[in-house]
Amino acid sequence: MLSAPPKNVVVFRALPPDLLARIESRHRVVCADPRRVEELPRFRAALADAQGLIGSSFRIGAAELDAAPRLEVISSISVGADTYPLAELARRGIVLCHTPGVLTETTADTIFGLVMCTLRRLPELSQLVRAGRWTRNIGEELFGWDVHGKTIGILGFGRIGQALARRAALGFDMPVRYFDRSTAAPPELQGRAECVPLGRLLAEADIVVCTLPLSQGTRHLMNAAAFAAMKPGAVFVNGSRGGIVDEAALVDALDRGTLRAAGLDVFATEPLPLDSPLRTHPKVTPLPHVGSATHETRRKMAELATDNLLRVLAGEPALTAYDLSGVGG
Ligand code: DGY
Repeated sequence: MLSAPPKNVVVFRALPPDLLARIESRHRVVCADPRRVEELPRFRAALADAQGLIGSSFRIGAAELDAAPRLEVISSISVGADTYPLAELARRGIVLCHTPGVLTETTADTIFGLVMCTLRRLPELSQLVRAGRWTRNIGEELFGWDVHGKTIGILGFGRIGQALARRAALGFDMPVRYFDRSTAAPPELQGRAECVPLGRLLAEADIVVCTLPLSQGTRHLMNAAAFAAMKPGAVFVNGSRGGIVDEAALVDALDRGTLRAAGLDVFATEPLPLDSPLRTHPKVTPLPHVGSATHETRRKMAELATDNLLRVLAGEPALTAYDLSGVGG
């Protein structure tokens, strides 16, 4: 790897200094964050020579690929790959790397935290104390609802869905239903987690949690019909991608009272626009897409993405390439 000739790399999201230095010790690097208006022209100009890109949270489309004719690899500091044109990457033979595995437990922690916050109303009650409104014992109107023992329905049973199921089933004695085309429950969840059709999951779960990746097949999976099929008074939590939810239908279900509450770490547009009704809705606990945002996990993601980039630029296989076979390239 050390003897490989230097190549041109664009770093489009800040990296820890030591990881940036690792890349700079082998390659010519331009750092430009296209989400900052003032850095966008530099990002665009750097694409002309770029052989490697590393970053996340910016939509790369066919136009960017056209502008980067020498591109060999995109190393994403994320597990999700919905911001990349998969079929175009496959067609052009560009390697896409991502960071599965290292963020699984952290993201499951966040999602389960959102379940707790939403049912037990923890942010709302904490705000009451901060605002000086804790003047007597709270009344029933501010009571929450139990989490333990409730039936949880998990949409998607990949790494994060299974990590969430372990927390729910083994830690909180919750019956688990999950909706997934192909994954069997791991041994520790046998007899505790049942694979069911979507309609049955929606009808039986007290808490429906989305951990699915965003794709053409999952976009707006949670639409008006899906919310109407949920158990009256159920709770919805989304920890994967906002595009899976028809947000207008979600607001409607909350306003009608069919849904009790929602906990959302992800939104169709991020950052969440100030005029989104989900930002201030009294039944919504919103978070700023922080599923993997701990010091330890973000570090591991950046390390894995750096390793992937350097390996592919050196002609070695990535540690965690995204599987582009079958995306229609
Ligand atoms: C991921 O890794 O995909 C997280 O959602 C951050 O984008």
